[in-house]
Amino acid sequence: MTFERTAFAQTVLDPGVFAARRRTVMDAYGPGSVLVVAAAGHALRNGDVDHEWRQSSDFWYLTGFDEPETLLVLVPGRADGEAVAFVRPRDPAQEVWHGRRVGVEGAIARLGVDQAFDLKDFDEQLANLVEGAKQLCWHVGRDPALDQRLIRVTRRHRATPRLHLDGPDFFADLAAVMGELRLIKGPAEIEALRRAAKLTAEAHNEAMRVCQSGMNERQLQAVVEFVFRAGGAARVGYGSIVARGDNATILHYVENDQMIGPSDLVLIDAGGEVAYQTADITRTFPASGRFSPEQRAVYEVVLQAEHAAIALCTPEHRFVEVHERAVQVLTEGLVKIGLLRGDVEQLIQDEKYKRFYMHRTSHWLGMDVHDAGRYHDSLPTGNLSRQLVPGMVLTVEPGLYIAADDTEVPERFRGIGVRIEDDILITAGAPEVLTADCIKEIDDIERIVGTGGRWVAAVDPAFGDPF
Ligand code: GLY
Ligand code: MN
Ligand code: MN
Repeated sequence: MTFERTAFAQTVLDPGVFAARRRTVMDAYGPGSVLVVAAAGHALRNGDVDHEWRQSSDFWYLTGFDEPETLLVLVPGRADGEAVAFVRPRDPAQEVWHGRRVGVEGAIARLGVDQAFDLKDFDEQLANLVEGAKQLCWHVGRDPALDQRLIRVTRRHRATPRLHLDGPDFFADLAAVMGELRLIKGPAEIEALRRAAKLTAEAHNEAMRVCQSGMNERQLQAVVEFVFRAGGAARVGYGSIVARGDNATILHYVENDQMIGPSDLVLIDAGGEVAYQTADITRTFPASGRFSPEQRAVYEVVLQAEHAAIALCTPEHRFVEVHERAVQVLTEGLVKIGLLRGDVEQLIQDEKYKRFYMHRTSHWLGMDVHDAGRYHDSLPTGNLSRQLVPGMVLTVEPGLYIAADDTEVPERFRGIGVRIEDDILITAGAPEVLTADCIKEIDDIERIVGTGGRWVAAVDPAFGDPF
C-alpha cells in the first residue's frame, strides 16, 4: 500500500475545512447564541499514569487541534470576532515534561480563530461574551465540572445584578446539532475513512495469513494492531475483539487471552483510526484454513445476509430496512440449516431469530465507532427510521451466535459464532463498500489462512503464553 502522506495530511488538516464547519454550526444557532466546546481532559488510569489521551471528537471536528484542556467559544455575529480560543499558555518547564504547546501567541494561527486567551481567563472572558446573549449551548451533562462552571459564570448577573448585564436564559445541548453535522461526511472525512478502511482491511487479511492454531488470541490482536500503526493509524478506534471458538458468541469479548485450537473459528472485530476517523471490520475464519460443514453452513447464511443487506444501502431505503433485510435472510437461513423450525414470517414476527441474532445490523460510523447522529426522523406521528442520504457511512454487520450450552441445537453447531462486518458509504448510486479489500468469500478465506504474513514475518505461538 502506498499513501501520498503529504497530500493526504493537507486534505484532512486543511484549516478551511474546520473554519467551514464552525461557520455551519454557528449558522445553525445564529446571533444571540454562545457555543462552548471543550477539548478532552485527562483520565487517570492508575498511580500517576493517565489513560491514552485522545481529543474529543466534536472539538477536533471544529478545530483540528489536539491539545488537551482547550476551550473554544463561538459567538455567531460577534463584531470583534466570532471564534475565541482559550489555550494552555507556553511553559518551558511543563513542555519539557508533557509536550509542546502552541500557547496564546500561536493559537490564532494554529486554530484559525479570531482571538485567543490563556485558559485562566476563561471565566472572566466568558462572562463578557455571554452578556446580552439569549442562549448558551454546550454538551450539557457530559462533564459535571464544566456544567457547574458554565452555569456559575452565566448566572453572575443573578448573583450580582448591579454589576453585570443580562446573561442567557436558555441552555441548549450542542450534541444533537453536532451529531447531525457529523452524520453527513464531507470529502476530507470520506478520504480519511477510505484510508482507515483500506488499512483495516489489510490488517484483517494479515491476521488470516499469519493465523495458526496454537497461537494466542492476543498474538493475533498484536498482528492486527501492528498493521494499523505500521500503516499510519494513530490508534485503534475501539478495543479490538479477537475471539476463538465460543468466545465469539460473547458480543463484546475483551479478554483476548485464550489459545486458538485447530478446529476453532476465529472472530476478529477491530478497526484502525486514521485522522480521527475509524473503520470497523469483523471477519470470521477457520484457524485451520478449512471450515467444518457446520461452520460453513452458518457462515454462508451470515454472508448471504450481509450481501443482501448491503444491497439496500442506497438513498431509496431507510436505515431500518437494512436490518430487516438481514433478519429476513438470517431467519430463512436458520430454517434451512435446521436451527429454527416453522414459517419464516411467523418466526420473524415472534422474534425467534433473537436467540441467535440479538444485536442490530448497523450503526453510523465516523469519528466515533458508534458515530453521532439520530437514527430517526421525529414526526408528529412518532419516530420514523431515517432515509439514507449520500455522505452517510454505516456498518453492515449481521451475525449468528450459537451458545455453547444451547442443548436445543445439534451439538455440532454449539459454540459457533460468526459475524461479518463491512463499512458502507451511501452514494447517489450503488453502495460504496469502503472495506471491499477485506477477504470474506469462503474460497478466498480458505486460500489465504495460514499462508504467511506479508507485514509480520511470523509469530511463535510459544512466545505468547499468557499469565
Ligand atoms: N466493534 C463494535 C461494533 O461492531 O459495533
Ligand atoms: Mn460495528
Ligand atoms: Mn465491529
